[in-house]
Amino acid sequence: MCSSQTIDPDWAQPDTPASRHSIAVAQHLRGQIEDAGGVLPFDQYMDIALYAPGLGYYATGTRKFGQGGDFVTAPEIGPLFGGCLAHEVGLVLETIDDACLLEFGAGSGALAQSLIEALSADGRLPSRYCILEISPDLRERQRQRLEPLAEHYGLKIEWLEQLPDGPLQGVILANEVVDAFAVTRFRVIEGRPWRAGISIDGDGFAWEWIDDLDPDSGAAKIVQQYELVEGYISEVCPRAEAWIHALGVSLQRGLALVIDYGFPAREYYLPERSQGTLRCHYQHRAHNDPLILPGIQDVTCHVNFSALAEAGRTAGFDVLGYTSQESYLLALGLLDLATPQPDDDEKLMFARAAEVKQLILPSQMGEAFKVMAFGKNIEQVLAGFKLRDRSSSL
Ligand SMILES: C[S@@+](CC[C@H](N)C(=O)[O-])C[C@H]1O[C@@H](n2cnc3c(N)ncnc32)[C@H](O)[C@@H]1O
Repeated sequence: MCSSQTIDPDWAQPDTPASRHSIAVAQHLRGQIEDAGGVLPFDQYMDIALYAPGLGYYATGTRKFGQGGDFVTAPEIGPLFGGCLAHEVGLVLETIDDACLLEFGAGSGALAQSLIEALSADGRLPSRYCILEISPDLRERQRQRLEPLAEHYGLKIEWLEQLPDGPLQGVILANEVVDAFAVTRFRVIEGRPWRAGISIDGDGFAWEWIDDLDPDSGAAKIVQQYELVEGYISEVCPRAEAWIHALGVSLQRGLALVIDYGFPAREYYLPERSQGTLRCHYQHRAHNDPLILPGIQDVTCHVNFSALAEAGRTAGFDVLGYTSQESYLLALGLLDLATPQPDDDEKLMFARAAEVKQLILPSQMGEAFKVMAFGKNIEQVLAGFKLRDRSSSL
């Protein structure tokens, strides 16, 4: 069965429960492939591997974030990321009556915690903090972490199943969520995109290429526009576009901040990026084989911020800014926030310095991660883009 046996011997081997779990996920995937007639479109494979109830990587109780997990996100490093965001978010929240702060995909609850603490210190807590989280396991972890905090600050936290029916006012945040949406992978064959599918190959899985994409599909337009050559492999993410469109329809007044790794389309589809951006994260190793370790590794893709901006505009959003995480956090006063205080001990000072480096160094998260702000019916000039706004590159 495709799982631990096939991974590089230098990698940390999954323990017995993880191996067994991956084998169960692989068995489920094999059943789905058979039901689909032998080839399952890759977006469905990715969806199952990440989110299938009780099986998918995000749906089960293993540790994902931080040192003992598979990867680290900005709010997991420490409170400075959330502290900076609180400046921008708080200023918008206080201009809107009965504003809601809605976080998508809140992971371990680290960003919510640092935001709530910083907003409270600034006297700008919203009337409601809402979380829309797809994973039942993570929802439960968020509850355990955040409910005592909510009680302490007298804040109402709600977990939503879906976007509210009625109009929404306030701020929406999504840090490293869009990269986790299932993508349509494609390969250029005979001048047009063929969709990736997954078949069963002995004990494991294999790639197949299916010639069923519409000539008007997003992938076909990309192949034409960027003159992608024979054999070029990449991906499009219609779910990301549908998601931002839904937010644009729902949000009547306020701000939506999307933070993730990615680039504008013209960088996404560069000739040298001919194998796409699909990446997997397993025990702090990044690699590009989603067919191994199903259910026990993260599978992600970079975000095409041009496509996201375009889809947001079709729902009435204005793109209020687009910049690197480095530039955004520096503009929001990261260095002031990290300045040692007289009673800080040495350990804390070192931790803060390391946190700043990880957040902003171009070799770490500073340049790969971008911040895109969408707005509707708000007048503020956003402070986070005052050092540099790269919207013209989209
Ligand atoms: C890479 S983690 C990031 C977690 C957190 N935002 C952070 O920065 O640490 C992706 C998160 O998005 C959630 N997620 C993925 N797709 C989602 C969706 N369609 N709606 C809501 N949450 C989603 C996952 O369950 C997980 O909590």
